Amino acid sequence: MPLYSRITGTGSYLPPRFVTNQQLVEQLAARGVETSDEWIVERTGIRARHFADEGTFSSDLAVEAARKALEAAGASADEVDLIIVATSTPDMVFPSTASIVQHKLGIAGCPAFDVQAVCTGFIYALTVADAMIRSGTARKALVIGTEIFSRILDFDDRTTCVLFGDGAGAILLEASEQPGILATDLHADGSYREILHVPGHVSGGEISGSPLLQMDGQAVFKLAVGLLEKTATAVLAKAGMEKEQVDWLVPHQANIRIMMSTARKLRLPADKVIVTLEEQGNTSAASIPLALDAGVRSGQIQPGQTLLLEGVGGGFTWGSVLLKY
Ligand code: UT7
Repeated sequence: MPLYSRITGTGSYLPPRFVTNQQLVEQLAARGVETSDEWIVERTGIRARHFADEGTFSSDLAVEAARKALEAAGASADEVDLIIVATSTPDMVFPSTASIVQHKLGIAGCPAFDVQAVCTGFIYALTVADAMIRSGTARKALVIGTEIFSRILDFDDRTTCVLFGDGAGAILLEASEQPGILATDLHADGSYREILHVPGHVSGGEISGSPLLQMDGQAVFKLAVGLLEKTATAVLAKAGMEKEQVDWLVPHQANIRIMMSTARKLRLPADKVIVTLEEQGNTSAASIPLALDAGVRSGQIQPGQTLLLEGVGGGFTWGSVLLKY
């Protein structure tokens, strides 16, 4: 049985419609919602985001990202023996977005399923894929985070609609004798479920409750800062490693203030944090693999370096993955 699972390729995809803060501010003003570029940049670090057009689904973004990850790994789709998709904006109630992605990749037969842990989704998906590879259940897993959050935003609520964007990131995770994923740390606490949620559901052919995102931003902020430090400390302890050994922090991209607070606690300088939220906003489960791919393709992340991936989000969920790239 393989000792480790290792990332052999990364890929990402952003839908072409690019919306700057100023463009969004003007669109919102037209419906009587007041905000400003200054407020958004100062409070979050976000300057722009991508929005998918009508008729594009999370599976479409996922397939583009997956193809790039396969190409980077020098692998073909028919070698894939597991697909896990992290998303809170699936194409439909069922089947899973992972099944749809599998079909769009032109393959069949391997297990394919979604995980739902909102912005921590990719960390959950990667942890499950790692366990399945180390147990011998799979050898080449596509792990994807994909979201079209623009479909669940309330554009009359300025406290949330300026924060999120659409996109997908993917990796190919392979069985390996070389490390690899070193340690993982996952948590959830459903007592906080109402501080970040989309409470609606389908019932009797109609949507019952709100199908739009609602968030108590301050509550999420406070909880996130503490929990991200805890999970970072826990995952390092599990691997028997010290903070100083981390080369790159690849965090969920929700707010630059949260990301830099974690970096300070890890004693990592700001230039050791991969930051993509300026031009992407918060893409929920897609943000960590999007940031990972950006770091790899820009040449910042080099083979053999130690990466700390971490996320926090609705549920409440939080967790981290420590790995050698
Ligand atoms: O991805 C899942 C995890 N999600 C997160 O990590 C998000 C965590 N939370 C946050 O990032 C921040 O709490 C926000 C960016 C959402 C908000 O920043 P904040 O510094 O906590 O602002 P606030 O909620 O305390 O609001 C400050 C003021 C309020 O006005 P008053 O009451 O002081 O007069 C808000 O009404 O800013 C106002 N405000 C806005 N003003 C202009 C809220 N949203 C906006 C806006 N434009 N878009």
